[in-house]
Amino acid sequence: MVERSALAIYIAAIVLFMMGAFATIILPFFDPDMTTPTANAEARNYAPDSPEAKGRLVYIANGCNTCHTQYVRPVKADVAMNLGPVTVPGDYVYDKPHLFGSNRTGPDLMWVGSRTNAQWNYQHLKNPQKLVPGSIMPKYDYLSEDDLNNLVSYLMSLKPATNAQAAAFNK
Ligand code: HEC
Repeated sequence: MVERSALAIYIAAIVLFMMGAFATIILPFFDPDMTTPTANAEARNYAPDSPEAKGRLVYIANGCNTCHTQYVRPVKADVAMNLGPVTVPGDYVYDKPHLFGSNRTGPDLMWVGSRTNAQWNYQHLKNPQKLVPGSIMPKYDYLSEDDLNNLVSYLMSLKPATNAQAAAFNK
């Protein structure tokens, strides 16, 4: 069949696009799951001057999110890697700009604070290859002592809310 009206196709394409945009961009704003913080989100609602908030800026400035994600999906691959609890939208309410990342060259860091300690992270950032032979993570030995310590504080804060935090939050 010869298509008689190109205009009809353009309009149909635009309408379909708008429906897609509406469903995936506008509708989620009305979903309380997206906007209600969880206890995990509250635990990451850092005061602006805290070491964790400053460390987060160091994380962003050094592009850690180009190699590391911060989300755990309910799929076999993530569960098998033992990454920690599956994350939900409410966990990210205060994570602005969010640091999901889109590439896992290194492991997911959503809950890295519960499987590493401060001392290890400090040494690892300065010289990953010394602790993990063959690691392709760059050395961050050029960071100032302040930046390194703040970054470590940030990494250590990346863990599920403690029972006490969760209880206080659910009151
Ligand atoms: C070029 C990619 C790359 C970049 C950029 C990068 N990393 Fe990594 N990272 C890796 C790889 C690969 C590993 C796994 C090997 C290792 O532990 O060194 C890793 C491991 C880690 C671990 C240990 C995770 C675990 O579960 O054991 C932490 C913590 C970490 N990186 C933090 C950072 C931080 C903070 C930054 C930014 C300052 C950063 N990484 C930048 C690739 C990268």
